[in-house]
Amino acid sequence: MSKSSLPLVLNGERCRFVVIGGGDVATRKVATLVEAGAAVTVVAPEISASIHKLKQDEQPDEGHGRARLNLEERAAADEDYQAGDYVVLATDNESVNRSQAEAARTAGAFVCRTDEPRENDFAFPAVVERLPLKIAISTSGSSPALTRLVRDRIEAFIPQDYSRLGKWMEQLREKYRREGTSSERGRFWRRLMRSQAPDQVLARREDVADRIAEDLFAGKDVTRGEAFLVGAGPGDPDLLTFRALRLIQMADVVFYDRLVSPAILELLPDDCERHYVGKARSDHAVPQDQINQRLVDEAEKGRRVLRLKGGDPFIFGRGGEEIQQLAEAGIPFQVVPGITAASGCSAYAGIPLTHRDHAQSVRFVTGHMKDGSCNLPWSELIHPHQTLVIYMGLVGLPEICSQLIGHGMPADTPIALVEKGTLPDQKVHTGTLSSMPEYVKGREIHAPTLTIVGSVVSLHEVLQWRSGE
Ligand SMILES: C[S@@+](CC[C@H](N)C(=O)[O-])C[C@H]1O[C@@H](n2cnc3c(N)ncnc32)[C@H](O)[C@@H]1O
Repeated sequence: MSKSSLPLVLNGERCRFVVIGGGDVATRKVATLVEAGAAVTVVAPEISASIHKLKQDEQPDEGHGRARLNLEERAAADEDYQAGDYVVLATDNESVNRSQAEAARTAGAFVCRTDEPRENDFAFPAVVERLPLKIAISTSGSSPALTRLVRDRIEAFIPQDYSRLGKWMEQLREKYRREGTSSERGRFWRRLMRSQAPDQVLARREDVADRIAEDLFAGKDVTRGEAFLVGAGPGDPDLLTFRALRLIQMADVVFYDRLVSPAILELLPDDCERHYVGKARSDHAVPQDQINQRLVDEAEKGRRVLRLKGGDPFIFGRGGEEIQQLAEAGIPFQVVPGITAASGCSAYAGIPLTHRDHAQSVRFVTGHMKDGSCNLPWSELIHPHQTLVIYMGLVGLPEICSQLIGHGMPADTPIALVEKGTLPDQKVHTGTLSSMPEYVKGREIHAPTLTIVGSVVSLHEVLQWRSGE
């Protein structure tokens, strides 16, 4: 029935279902129906323990004190059906399903045969639930695997917080249901959905969303600027968070730096205005204080400003400085964490940062100081069971290796350089503190590169799982 299928939403509490069968398939259907508050009669010579458990856990019907779930352990009979019933035939016996379908239809009931979907009057869709939102997916039984695939994708893509949004909108609908004319209300809802209110609710700021709704209803202009400081992760777009993706897709204007991969920039809306603000070691295309000011200026124009940064914005990313200026200017902002280079590179290189046999702690340091020097607290870094992760350490590598050895780290301590970690052309170079400076000299190694020092690096040989090195 795929072509003729007509999705409708039933009020479960007002329907009577008869389920014929007591096995696994019947159990899944009964659980769905009970959840929706339907009146259900299960008829089968043997009924599963799970259905009995549902019966045990049943709360009496508030209206009538009657049971909603009735179990009848016997064979199905023609008298089980009444006009208007929804009958689910879920036995594993095809001829029982066929004869009972006939009997049910004769009585004027609607039929769902779980073994023969082409014969169905109705079918159960797969459901993604973010109450009060329910998304139903159906191929009318012709391709359950496709239905599940799509359901899983939607499940992963729609944040759980949509329930929160649904509840907020339900309350708002109640509040405004008698205000204004129906066309005024229609216009209000359309404008509300295009405003920043939904996203404010998802950011758990219902108070701000309420104010936007009130202003909109009063006909005020509610164009408010906002800034999103978003971590884009180390490069592979698959490592973005759902929240990052959602905000990327909403941006009016973006300021991004060198570490944001082209594949991630492709996710921006076509009409999003793009500004590259540099950030290679010696290429500060736009000085930091100017970046901070431009974020404020754009948000003050009422735009959604996306500040997209490689990795995590709060790890060697100056994210704190940028939102400080936004906070001082009273611009609402959100911060979205990203997978930092240490996590992304170590995972994609097969180098666990901690491991019970190797390292109980991990330390992130930057090999590049503000004045261009590499002035680290060397003696603090020498610890036999600690992994050291050095960001921006490629240029200072010879000094880093010699200082670590000079402060007592064994010269044969394993070290890895992860070049372009998580990107398609990732390379992992391994060696020891004494061999690595020489190794690097003869090779062209491209930024960005992350340095990992410690015995965990020795696991790379066995645990590497990514090809392309
Ligand atoms: C200014 S820091 C920014 C770090 C970023 N906020 C983070 O959390 O990953 C830049 C340094 O991060 C490291 N890095 C970032 N992305 C990388 C990648 N895909 N592969 C290797 N190293 C990376 C490099 O050491 C680079 O020099």
